[in-house]
Amino acid sequence: MQVPFELRRKLLQLEALYDIGRALSSLRPEGDLLEELMQRAISVLDATIGFAVSLDSESQLQHLYALGLAEGESVERVMATEPVKRVLAMRTPLSTTVVDFLGETGGAVLVAPLLAGDALLGAVGVVGKEERGPVSGSFVDDDLRFLASLATIGAAAIDNSRNFARLNRMRESLESENRSLRERMLREFSNRLMIGDSPEMQRVIDLVARVADSHANVLIRGESGTGKEMIARLVHGNSPRREKPFIALNCAALPETLLESELFGIERGVATGVEARPGKFELAQGGTVFLDEIGDIPMTLQAKLLRVLQEREIEKLGGRKKIKVDVRILAATHRPLEAMIEKGEFRQDLYYRLRVVEIVLPPLRARRQDIPKLVRYFLDKYGTREGRTDIRLAPEALEKILGYPFPGNVRELENLIEGAVALAVDPVIGAADLHLPDAKGGGGIEGFGENFPTLKELELRYVAKVLTETRGNMSQASRILGVDRKTVYRWRDALSQNRSFDEFSDIN
Ligand SMILES: Nc1ncnc2c1ncn2[C@@H]1O[C@H](COP(=O)(O)OP(=O)(O)OP(=O)(O)O)[C@@H](O)[C@H]1O
Ligand SMILES: [Mg+2]
Repeated sequence: MQVPFELRRKLLQLEALYDIGRALSSLRPEGDLLEELMQRAISVLDATIGFAVSLDSESQLQHLYALGLAEGESVERVMATEPVKRVLAMRTPLSTTVVDFLGETGGAVLVAPLLAGDALLGAVGVVGKEERGPVSGSFVDDDLRFLASLATIGAAAIDNSRNFARLNRMRESLESENRSLRERMLREFSNRLMIGDSPEMQRVIDLVARVADSHANVLIRGESGTGKEMIARLVHGNSPRREKPFIALNCAALPETLLESELFGIERGVATGVEARPGKFELAQGGTVFLDEIGDIPMTLQAKLLRVLQEREIEKLGGRKKIKVDVRILAATHRPLEAMIEKGEFRQDLYYRLRVVEIVLPPLRARRQDIPKLVRYFLDKYGTREGRTDIRLAPEALEKILGYPFPGNVRELENLIEGAVALAVDPVIGAADLHLPDAKGGGGIEGFGENFPTLKELELRYVAKVLTETRGNMSQASRILGVDRKTVYRWRDALSQNRSFDEFSDIN
Protein backbone atom coordinates (compact mmCIF):
# COMPACT_ATOMS: atom_id res chain seq x y z
CA MET A 1 0.00 0.00 0.00
CA GLN A 2 1.24 3.41 -0.88
CA VAL A 3 1.45 5.63 2.21
CA PRO A 4 0.62 9.15 1.21
CA PHE A 5 3.61 11.45 1.25
CA GLU A 6 2.01 13.84 3.74
CA LEU A 7 1.42 11.03 6.21
CA ARG A 8 4.96 9.75 5.87
CA ARG A 9 6.30 13.18 6.65
CA LYS A 10 4.12 13.40 9.78
CA LEU A 11 5.24 9.97 10.92
CA LEU A 12 8.85 10.90 10.42
CA GLN A 13 8.44 14.03 12.51
CA LEU A 14 6.70 12.17 15.30
CA GLU A 15 9.39 9.55 15.35
CA ALA A 16 12.03 12.24 15.44
CA LEU A 17 10.33 13.93 18.40
CA TYR A 18 10.08 10.62 20.16
CA ASP A 19 13.73 9.83 19.50
CA ILE A 20 15.00 13.16 20.55
CA GLY A 21 12.86 13.13 23.66
CA ARG A 22 14.56 9.94 24.64
CA ALA A 23 18.02 11.04 23.59
CA LEU A 24 17.78 14.33 25.43
CA SER A 25 16.39 12.92 28.62
CA SER A 26 19.70 11.25 29.34
CA LEU A 27 21.94 13.66 31.19
CA ARG A 28 24.48 15.00 28.75
CA PRO A 29 26.59 18.11 28.47
CA GLU A 30 24.73 21.13 27.18
CA GLY A 31 26.87 21.38 24.02
CA ASP A 32 26.05 17.80 23.04
CA LEU A 33 22.36 18.42 23.54
CA LEU A 34 22.40 21.49 21.33
CA GLU A 35 24.30 19.79 18.57
CA GLU A 36 21.91 16.87 18.59
CA LEU A 37 18.97 19.25 18.47
CA MET A 38 20.39 21.00 15.42
CA GLN A 39 21.16 17.72 13.62
CA ARG A 40 17.62 16.45 14.12
CA ALA A 41 16.10 19.68 12.90
CA ILE A 42 18.20 19.61 9.75
CA SER A 43 17.52 15.98 8.92
CA VAL A 44 13.79 15.94 9.60
CA LEU A 45 13.12 19.26 7.88
CA ASP A 46 15.53 18.64 4.96
CA ALA A 47 17.22 22.00 5.57
CA THR A 48 20.44 23.19 3.95
CA ILE A 49 21.52 25.24 6.97
CA GLY A 50 20.86 24.57 10.66
CA PHE A 51 21.92 26.24 13.88
CA ALA A 52 21.37 26.10 17.62
CA VAL A 53 22.48 28.58 20.29
CA SER A 54 22.28 28.65 24.05
CA LEU A 55 22.45 31.64 26.40
CA ASP A 56 23.08 31.87 30.10
CA SER A 57 20.81 33.66 32.57
CA GLU A 58 22.53 36.97 31.70
CA SER A 59 21.81 36.38 27.97
CA GLN A 60 25.49 35.75 27.33
CA LEU A 61 26.31 33.28 24.58
CA GLN A 62 27.12 29.82 25.92
CA HIS A 63 27.21 27.49 22.93
CA LEU A 64 26.67 28.00 19.25
CA TYR A 65 26.54 25.36 16.54
CA ALA A 66 25.83 25.84 12.85
CA LEU A 67 25.98 23.53 9.85
CA GLY A 68 25.90 24.35 6.14
CA LEU A 69 27.29 27.89 6.39
CA ALA A 70 29.42 29.26 3.55
CA GLU A 71 33.08 28.33 3.63
CA GLY A 72 35.02 30.64 5.98
CA GLU A 73 31.86 32.14 7.46
CA SER A 74 32.11 32.63 11.21
CA VAL A 75 29.56 30.81 13.29
CA GLU A 76 29.19 33.74 15.70
CA ARG A 77 27.54 35.82 13.01
CA VAL A 78 24.43 33.65 13.25
CA MET A 79 23.54 35.73 16.32
CA ALA A 80 23.55 38.87 14.23
CA THR A 81 21.02 37.64 11.65
CA GLU A 82 17.61 39.28 11.62
CA PRO A 83 15.48 36.13 12.21
CA VAL A 84 17.58 35.03 15.24
CA LYS A 85 17.56 38.52 16.76
CA ARG A 86 13.81 38.71 16.32
CA VAL A 87 13.09 35.34 17.91
CA LEU A 88 15.33 36.07 20.87
CA ALA A 89 13.53 39.38 21.34
CA MET A 90 9.96 38.14 20.79
CA ARG A 91 10.38 34.68 22.31
CA THR A 92 7.93 33.18 19.77
CA PRO A 93 8.54 30.82 16.81
CA LEU A 94 9.09 32.56 13.49
CA SER A 95 8.61 31.51 9.87
CA THR A 96 9.98 33.90 7.29
CA THR A 97 12.11 34.11 4.15
CA VAL A 98 15.46 35.76 3.53
CA VAL A 99 17.25 36.42 0.27
CA ASP A 100 20.63 35.77 1.74
CA PHE A 101 21.81 33.97 4.89
CA LEU A 102 25.40 34.88 5.77
CA GLY A 103 26.47 34.80 2.17
CA GLU A 104 24.54 31.66 1.25
CA THR A 105 21.45 31.69 -0.85
CA GLY A 106 18.59 32.22 1.58
CA GLY A 107 15.06 30.99 1.29
CA ALA A 108 12.57 29.85 3.89
CA VAL A 109 13.70 30.29 7.52
CA LEU A 110 12.24 28.69 10.65
CA VAL A 111 13.46 29.69 14.13
CA ALA A 112 12.06 28.58 17.50
CA PRO A 113 13.07 29.86 20.93
CA LEU A 114 14.35 27.47 23.62
CA LEU A 115 12.10 28.31 26.55
CA ALA A 116 12.09 26.64 29.94
CA GLY A 117 9.37 28.26 31.96
CA ASP A 118 10.09 31.99 31.83
CA ALA A 119 13.72 31.52 31.00
CA LEU A 120 15.04 32.00 27.50
CA LEU A 121 17.80 29.46 27.02
CA GLY A 122 18.52 30.01 23.32
CA ALA A 123 17.12 29.23 19.89
CA VAL A 124 17.18 26.60 17.19
CA GLY A 125 16.62 27.25 13.49
CA VAL A 126 16.83 25.99 9.92
CA VAL A 127 17.25 27.74 6.56
CA GLY A 128 16.57 26.67 2.98
CA LYS A 129 14.44 23.64 2.35
CA GLU A 130 16.15 21.03 0.19
CA GLU A 131 14.09 20.33 -2.91
CA ARG A 132 12.60 16.89 -2.48
CA GLY A 133 9.17 15.40 -3.11
CA PRO A 134 6.18 17.30 -4.41
CA VAL A 135 6.47 20.15 -1.92
CA SER A 136 9.74 21.90 -2.54
CA GLY A 137 11.68 24.97 -1.57
CA SER A 138 9.53 26.09 1.31
CA PHE A 139 8.54 24.79 4.71
CA VAL A 140 4.94 24.12 5.58
CA ASP A 141 3.07 25.19 8.72
CA ASP A 142 3.57 21.79 10.27
CA ASP A 143 7.32 22.22 10.00
CA LEU A 144 7.26 25.21 12.32
CA ARG A 145 5.08 23.32 14.78
CA PHE A 146 7.58 20.47 14.65
CA LEU A 147 10.55 22.79 15.24
CA ALA A 148 8.74 24.48 18.15
CA SER A 149 8.07 21.07 19.73
CA LEU A 150 11.66 20.06 19.22
CA ALA A 151 12.74 23.32 20.88
CA THR A 152 10.46 22.71 23.87
CA ILE A 153 11.90 19.26 24.47
CA GLY A 154 15.42 20.56 23.92
CA ALA A 155 14.94 23.45 26.34
CA ALA A 156 13.65 21.12 29.04
CA ALA A 157 16.69 18.90 28.54
CA ILE A 158 19.11 21.82 28.72
CA ASP A 159 17.35 23.16 31.79
CA ASN A 160 17.66 19.74 33.38
CA SER A 161 21.30 19.45 32.54
CA ARG A 162 21.99 22.93 33.94
CA ASN A 163 20.12 22.17 37.16
CA PHE A 164 21.97 18.93 37.48
CA ALA A 165 25.31 20.62 36.93
CA ARG A 166 24.41 23.30 39.44
CA LEU A 167 23.35 20.77 42.05
CA ASN A 168 26.47 18.80 41.36
CA ARG A 169 28.67 21.84 41.85
CA MET A 170 26.78 22.66 45.02
CA ARG A 171 27.16 19.12 46.29
CA GLU A 172 30.86 19.11 45.48
CA SER A 173 31.47 22.39 47.23
CA LEU A 174 29.41 21.28 50.23
CA GLU A 175 31.30 18.02 50.35
CA SER A 176 34.66 19.68 50.20
CA GLU A 177 33.57 22.24 52.77
CA ASN A 178 32.38 19.43 54.99
CA ARG A 179 35.61 17.53 54.55
CA SER A 180 37.80 20.49 55.36
CA LEU A 181 35.63 21.39 58.35
CA ARG A 182 35.94 17.87 59.68
CA GLU A 183 39.69 17.86 59.20
CA ARG A 184 40.03 21.27 60.79
CA MET A 185 37.91 20.21 63.72
CA LEU A 186 39.98 17.12 64.32
CA ARG A 187 43.20 19.11 64.03
CA GLU A 188 41.94 21.85 66.30
CA PHE A 189 40.46 19.31 68.63
CA SER A 190 43.72 17.47 69.14
CA ASN A 191 45.65 20.74 69.05
CA ARG A 192 43.45 22.20 71.68
CA LEU A 193 43.63 19.08 73.73
CA MET A 194 47.25 18.14 73.39
CA ILE A 195 50.20 20.40 72.89
CA GLY A 196 53.21 18.34 72.00
CA ASP A 197 55.58 18.78 69.09
CA SER A 198 58.39 16.92 70.82
CA PRO A 199 59.22 13.48 69.42
CA GLU A 200 58.22 12.00 72.79
CA MET A 201 54.71 13.45 72.56
CA GLN A 202 54.40 12.75 68.85
CA ARG A 203 54.97 9.09 69.65
CA VAL A 204 52.21 9.26 72.24
CA ILE A 205 49.79 10.96 69.84
CA ASP A 206 50.60 8.39 67.14
CA LEU A 207 49.85 5.61 69.56
CA VAL A 208 46.55 7.26 70.51
CA ALA A 209 45.59 7.48 66.86
CA ARG A 210 46.38 3.81 66.30
CA VAL A 211 44.66 2.48 69.39
CA ALA A 212 41.60 4.76 69.40
CA ASP A 213 39.69 2.77 66.77
CA SER A 214 40.10 -0.56 68.53
CA HIS A 215 38.24 -2.01 71.46
CA ALA A 216 41.45 -2.59 73.44
CA ASN A 217 41.67 -1.52 77.06
CA VAL A 218 44.39 1.06 77.55
CA LEU A 219 46.51 1.74 80.60
CA ILE A 220 47.80 5.30 80.68
CA ARG A 221 50.82 5.93 82.86
CA GLY A 222 52.82 8.96 83.80
CA GLU A 223 53.65 11.26 86.66
CA SER A 224 51.07 13.50 88.19
CA GLY A 225 49.94 16.29 85.87
CA THR A 226 51.40 14.86 82.68
CA GLY A 227 48.03 14.78 80.93
CA LYS A 228 46.77 11.24 81.55
CA GLU A 229 43.14 12.27 81.69
CA MET A 230 43.57 14.32 78.52
CA ILE A 231 44.90 11.27 76.73
CA ALA A 232 41.95 9.22 77.95
CA ARG A 233 39.55 11.82 76.54
CA LEU A 234 41.49 11.93 73.29
CA VAL A 235 41.28 8.15 72.91
CA HIS A 236 37.54 8.21 73.52
CA GLY A 237 37.00 11.25 71.31
CA ASN A 238 38.69 9.57 68.37
CA SER A 239 37.07 6.18 68.85
CA PRO A 240 33.89 4.82 67.28
CA ARG A 241 32.34 5.32 70.74
CA ARG A 242 32.75 9.09 70.67
CA GLU A 243 29.00 9.75 70.47
CA LYS A 244 28.46 7.64 73.58
CA PRO A 245 29.33 8.69 77.13
CA PHE A 246 32.81 9.08 78.59
CA ILE A 247 32.47 8.40 82.30
CA ALA A 248 35.42 9.08 84.59
CA LEU A 249 35.83 7.84 88.13
CA ASN A 250 38.71 8.63 90.48
CA CYS A 251 39.37 5.41 92.36
CA ALA A 252 41.50 7.18 94.96
CA ALA A 253 38.99 9.78 95.98
CA LEU A 254 36.35 7.55 97.58
CA PRO A 255 36.21 5.09 100.46
CA GLU A 256 35.78 1.48 99.41
CA THR A 257 32.02 1.03 99.88
CA LEU A 258 31.21 4.26 98.09
CA LEU A 259 33.58 3.38 95.29
CA GLU A 260 31.87 0.05 94.85
CA SER A 261 28.41 1.56 94.55
CA GLU A 262 29.76 4.24 92.21
CA LEU A 263 31.19 1.55 89.95
CA PHE A 264 28.39 -0.96 89.93
CA GLY A 265 25.31 0.93 91.12
CA ILE A 266 22.77 0.17 93.82
CA GLU A 267 19.48 -1.70 93.63
CA ARG A 268 16.54 -0.14 95.41
CA GLY A 269 15.97 -1.38 98.94
CA VAL A 270 19.56 -2.18 99.89
CA ALA A 271 19.06 -0.06 102.94
CA THR A 272 16.32 2.29 103.97
CA GLY A 273 16.87 5.75 102.67
CA VAL A 274 19.15 4.59 99.88
CA GLU A 275 17.92 5.49 96.42
CA ALA A 276 18.50 3.06 93.59
CA ARG A 277 21.32 4.39 91.45
CA PRO A 278 23.03 3.30 88.27
CA GLY A 279 26.77 2.69 88.42
CA LYS A 280 29.40 4.19 86.15
CA PHE A 281 29.51 1.06 84.01
CA GLU A 282 25.80 1.31 83.32
CA LEU A 283 25.99 5.04 82.66
CA ALA A 284 28.78 4.50 80.18
CA GLN A 285 26.82 1.84 78.25
CA GLY A 286 28.21 1.75 74.71
CA GLY A 287 30.91 4.24 75.65
CA THR A 288 34.05 4.45 77.75
CA VAL A 289 34.75 4.18 81.47
CA PHE A 290 37.89 5.97 82.64
CA LEU A 291 39.23 4.55 85.90
CA ASP A 292 41.61 7.19 87.16
CA GLU A 293 44.19 6.34 89.84
CA ILE A 294 43.53 2.65 89.31
CA GLY A 295 46.58 1.89 91.46
CA ASP A 296 44.60 3.06 94.48
CA ILE A 297 41.68 0.66 94.10
CA PRO A 298 41.33 -1.67 97.13
CA MET A 299 42.06 -5.40 96.69
CA THR A 300 38.44 -6.53 97.21
CA LEU A 301 37.25 -4.24 94.46
CA GLN A 302 40.08 -5.37 92.21
CA ALA A 303 38.54 -8.85 92.26
CA LYS A 304 35.09 -7.51 91.45
CA LEU A 305 36.43 -5.32 88.69
CA LEU A 306 38.28 -8.25 87.16
CA ARG A 307 35.05 -10.22 87.06
CA VAL A 308 33.32 -7.40 85.18
CA LEU A 309 36.14 -7.24 82.67
CA GLN A 310 36.01 -10.99 82.11
CA GLU A 311 32.27 -11.48 81.96
CA ARG A 312 31.25 -8.07 80.64
CA GLU A 313 28.34 -7.94 83.03
CA ILE A 314 27.76 -6.27 86.34
CA GLU A 315 25.77 -7.01 89.44
CA LYS A 316 24.45 -4.04 91.35
CA LEU A 317 24.84 -3.77 95.10
CA GLY A 318 21.89 -5.70 96.51
CA GLY A 319 20.84 -6.69 93.04
CA ARG A 320 19.86 -10.15 91.99
CA LYS A 321 20.19 -10.00 88.26
CA LYS A 322 23.22 -9.38 86.11
CA ILE A 323 23.30 -6.56 83.59
CA LYS A 324 25.23 -6.82 80.34
CA VAL A 325 27.57 -3.92 79.80
CA ASP A 326 29.39 -2.88 76.66
CA VAL A 327 32.12 -0.51 77.74
CA ARG A 328 35.70 0.13 76.92
CA ILE A 329 38.01 0.56 79.88
CA LEU A 330 40.71 3.18 80.02
CA ALA A 331 42.69 3.31 83.24
CA ALA A 332 45.38 5.65 84.51
CA THR A 333 47.89 5.65 87.30
CA HIS A 334 51.18 7.19 88.37
CA ARG A 335 51.85 4.24 90.68
CA PRO A 336 54.46 1.55 90.06
CA LEU A 337 51.98 -1.28 89.48
CA GLU A 338 54.70 -3.88 88.85
CA ALA A 339 56.26 -3.23 92.25
CA MET A 340 52.80 -3.29 93.81
CA ILE A 341 52.16 -6.70 92.23
CA GLU A 342 55.42 -7.93 93.80
CA LYS A 343 54.23 -6.72 97.17
CA GLY A 344 50.81 -8.27 96.67
CA GLU A 345 49.06 -4.88 96.52
CA PHE A 346 47.80 -5.20 92.97
CA ARG A 347 46.40 -8.22 91.17
CA GLN A 348 48.50 -9.38 88.27
CA ASP A 349 45.52 -10.77 86.31
CA LEU A 350 43.76 -7.41 86.54
CA TYR A 351 46.97 -5.69 85.49
CA TYR A 352 47.14 -7.73 82.28
CA ARG A 353 43.48 -7.13 81.52
CA LEU A 354 43.84 -3.39 81.87
CA ARG A 355 47.19 -3.10 80.16
CA VAL A 356 46.31 -4.50 76.72
CA VAL A 357 47.92 -1.36 75.37
CA GLU A 358 50.07 0.90 77.49
CA ILE A 359 50.62 4.59 76.86
CA VAL A 360 53.39 6.18 78.90
CA LEU A 361 53.41 9.95 79.21
CA PRO A 362 56.88 11.44 79.53
CA PRO A 363 57.37 13.99 82.32
CA LEU A 364 57.57 17.59 81.20
CA ARG A 365 61.27 17.87 82.13
CA ALA A 366 61.99 15.14 79.57
CA ARG A 367 60.42 17.17 76.77
CA ARG A 368 61.37 20.77 77.44
CA GLN A 369 60.95 21.58 73.81
CA ASP A 370 57.16 21.54 74.38
CA ILE A 371 57.37 24.18 77.11
CA PRO A 372 57.34 27.38 74.99
CA LYS A 373 54.25 26.28 73.10
CA LEU A 374 52.51 25.19 76.28
CA VAL A 375 53.33 28.55 77.82
CA ARG A 376 51.88 30.36 74.82
CA TYR A 377 48.83 28.13 74.92
CA PHE A 378 48.15 28.80 78.61
CA LEU A 379 48.89 32.52 78.24
CA ASP A 380 46.31 32.58 75.50
CA LYS A 381 43.81 30.51 77.47
CA TYR A 382 44.00 32.55 80.68
CA GLY A 383 44.64 35.83 78.89
CA THR A 384 41.38 35.34 77.03
CA ARG A 385 39.57 34.36 80.21
CA GLU A 386 40.81 37.44 82.06
CA GLY A 387 40.16 39.68 79.06
CA ARG A 388 43.91 40.36 78.73
CA THR A 389 44.83 39.18 75.27
CA ASP A 390 47.87 41.50 75.17
CA ILE A 391 49.70 39.54 77.83
CA ARG A 392 53.20 38.24 77.05
CA LEU A 393 56.19 36.70 78.76
CA ALA A 394 59.56 38.47 78.97
CA PRO A 395 62.42 36.39 77.55
CA GLU A 396 64.03 36.09 81.01
CA ALA A 397 60.77 34.76 82.37
CA LEU A 398 60.71 32.03 79.74
CA GLU A 399 64.36 31.28 80.57
CA LYS A 400 63.44 30.88 84.21
CA ILE A 401 60.60 28.51 83.30
CA LEU A 402 62.83 26.46 81.03
CA GLY A 403 65.33 26.04 83.89
CA TYR A 404 62.75 24.73 86.35
CA PRO A 405 62.22 20.95 86.68
CA PHE A 406 58.40 21.03 87.03
CA PRO A 407 57.82 18.10 89.36
CA GLY A 408 54.10 18.80 88.94
CA ASN A 409 54.47 18.65 85.16
CA VAL A 410 51.98 20.33 82.82
CA ARG A 411 49.50 20.99 85.58
CA GLU A 412 52.13 22.88 87.55
CA LEU A 413 53.09 24.89 84.49
CA GLU A 414 49.45 25.64 83.82
CA ASN A 415 48.87 26.83 87.39
CA LEU A 416 52.00 28.94 87.24
CA ILE A 417 50.85 30.75 84.10
CA GLU A 418 47.29 31.07 85.34
CA GLY A 419 48.55 32.69 88.53
CA ALA A 420 50.93 35.00 86.70
CA VAL A 421 48.18 36.17 84.33
CA ALA A 422 45.76 36.76 87.19
CA LEU A 423 48.29 38.88 89.09
CA ALA A 424 49.89 40.66 86.15
CA VAL A 425 49.76 44.45 86.23
CA ASP A 426 51.94 44.90 83.17
CA PRO A 427 51.13 43.15 79.90
CA VAL A 428 54.66 41.72 80.03
CA ILE A 429 55.24 39.11 82.71
CA GLY A 430 58.79 39.33 84.04
CA ALA A 431 60.92 36.67 85.70
CA ALA A 432 60.23 38.19 89.11
CA ASP A 433 56.48 37.76 88.61
CA LEU A 434 56.85 34.01 88.40
CA HIS A 435 56.68 32.41 91.81
CA LEU A 436 58.53 29.19 91.33
CA PRO A 437 59.39 27.11 94.39
CA ASP A 438 63.04 27.22 95.32
CA ALA A 439 64.58 24.24 93.61
CA LYS A 440 67.08 23.85 96.47
CA GLY A 441 64.43 22.98 99.02
CA GLY A 442 64.53 25.42 101.92
CA GLY A 443 61.08 26.18 103.27
CA GLY A 444 62.36 26.90 106.75
CA ILE A 445 60.72 29.17 109.24
CA GLU A 446 63.25 31.96 108.57
CA GLY A 447 63.05 34.35 105.68
CA PHE A 448 59.54 35.73 106.03
CA GLY A 449 60.90 39.21 106.55
CA GLU A 450 58.07 41.40 107.75
CA ASN A 451 55.44 39.38 105.88
CA PHE A 452 54.34 36.79 108.38
CA PRO A 453 51.87 34.39 106.82
CA THR A 454 48.88 33.15 108.82
CA LEU A 455 49.05 29.62 110.11
CA LYS A 456 46.52 28.57 107.47
CA GLU A 457 48.63 30.04 104.68
CA LEU A 458 51.69 28.35 106.02
CA GLU A 459 49.84 25.04 106.16
CA LEU A 460 48.73 25.49 102.61
CA ARG A 461 52.23 26.22 101.44
CA TYR A 462 53.54 23.27 103.36
CA VAL A 463 51.00 20.91 101.75
CA ALA A 464 51.93 22.26 98.33
CA LYS A 465 55.59 21.80 99.12
CA VAL A 466 55.15 18.21 100.24
CA LEU A 467 53.07 17.42 97.17
CA THR A 468 55.74 18.89 94.95
CA GLU A 469 58.53 17.01 96.66
CA THR A 470 56.72 13.67 96.62
CA ARG A 471 55.91 14.16 92.93
CA GLY A 472 52.34 13.12 93.31
CA ASN A 473 53.01 9.98 95.32
CA MET A 474 49.94 10.23 97.49
CA SER A 475 50.88 7.48 99.91
CA GLN A 476 54.21 9.14 100.62
CA ALA A 477 52.56 12.56 100.93
CA SER A 478 49.95 11.19 103.30
CA ARG A 479 52.69 9.59 105.43
CA ILE A 480 54.65 12.82 105.64
CA LEU A 481 51.59 14.94 106.37
CA GLY A 482 50.11 12.43 108.76
CA VAL A 483 46.63 12.42 107.20
CA ASP A 484 44.88 9.79 105.11
CA ARG A 485 45.28 9.61 101.36
CA LYS A 486 41.78 10.82 100.59
CA THR A 487 42.43 14.04 102.45
CA VAL A 488 45.63 14.53 100.49
CA TYR A 489 43.67 14.08 97.27
CA ARG A 490 41.10 16.63 98.31
CA TRP A 491 43.79 19.13 99.17
CA ARG A 492 45.67 18.51 95.99
CA ASP A 493 42.57 18.99 93.85
CA ALA A 494 41.70 22.19 95.69
CA LEU A 495 45.27 23.40 95.29
CA SER A 496 45.41 22.58 91.61
CA GLN A 497 42.14 24.39 91.02
CA ASN A 498 43.32 27.43 92.99
CA ARG A 499 40.34 27.24 95.24
CA SER A 500 40.15 29.42 98.31
CA PHE A 501 41.93 28.73 101.56
CA ASP A 502 38.59 27.93 103.19
CA GLU A 503 38.82 24.55 101.56
CA PHE A 504 41.61 23.88 104.02
CA SER A 505 39.62 24.61 107.07
CA ASP A 506 39.95 20.96 107.97
CA ILE A 507 43.69 21.30 108.34
CA ASN A 508 43.86 21.39 112.06
N1 LIG B 1 49.89 18.27 76.27
C1 LIG B 1 49.07 19.11 76.91
N2 LIG B 1 48.60 20.18 76.26
C2 LIG B 1 47.79 21.05 76.90
N3 LIG B 1 47.39 20.92 78.16
C3 LIG B 1 47.83 19.87 78.85
C4 LIG B 1 48.68 18.91 78.26
N4 LIG B 1 48.96 17.96 79.18
C5 LIG B 1 48.31 18.32 80.28
N5 LIG B 1 47.61 19.46 80.11
C6 LIG B 1 46.81 20.17 81.13
O1 LIG B 1 47.41 19.90 82.37
C7 LIG B 1 46.43 19.61 83.36
C8 LIG B 1 46.71 18.23 83.91
O2 LIG B 1 46.36 17.25 82.95
P1 LIG B 1 45.63 15.89 83.37
O3 LIG B 1 44.60 16.17 84.40
O4 LIG B 1 45.22 15.21 82.15
O5 LIG B 1 46.88 15.16 84.03
P2 LIG B 1 46.92 13.80 84.85
O6 LIG B 1 48.10 13.08 84.35
O7 LIG B 1 45.61 13.14 84.79
O8 LIG B 1 47.24 14.33 86.29
P3 LIG B 1 47.02 13.55 87.71
O9 LIG B 1 47.89 12.39 87.71
O10 LIG B 1 47.45 14.60 88.68
O11 LIG B 1 45.58 13.23 87.77
C9 LIG B 1 45.10 19.73 82.70
O12 LIG B 1 44.55 21.00 83.01
C10 LIG B 1 45.40 19.63 81.24
O13 LIG B 1 44.50 20.46 80.55
MG1 LIG C 1 44.30 12.75 86.40
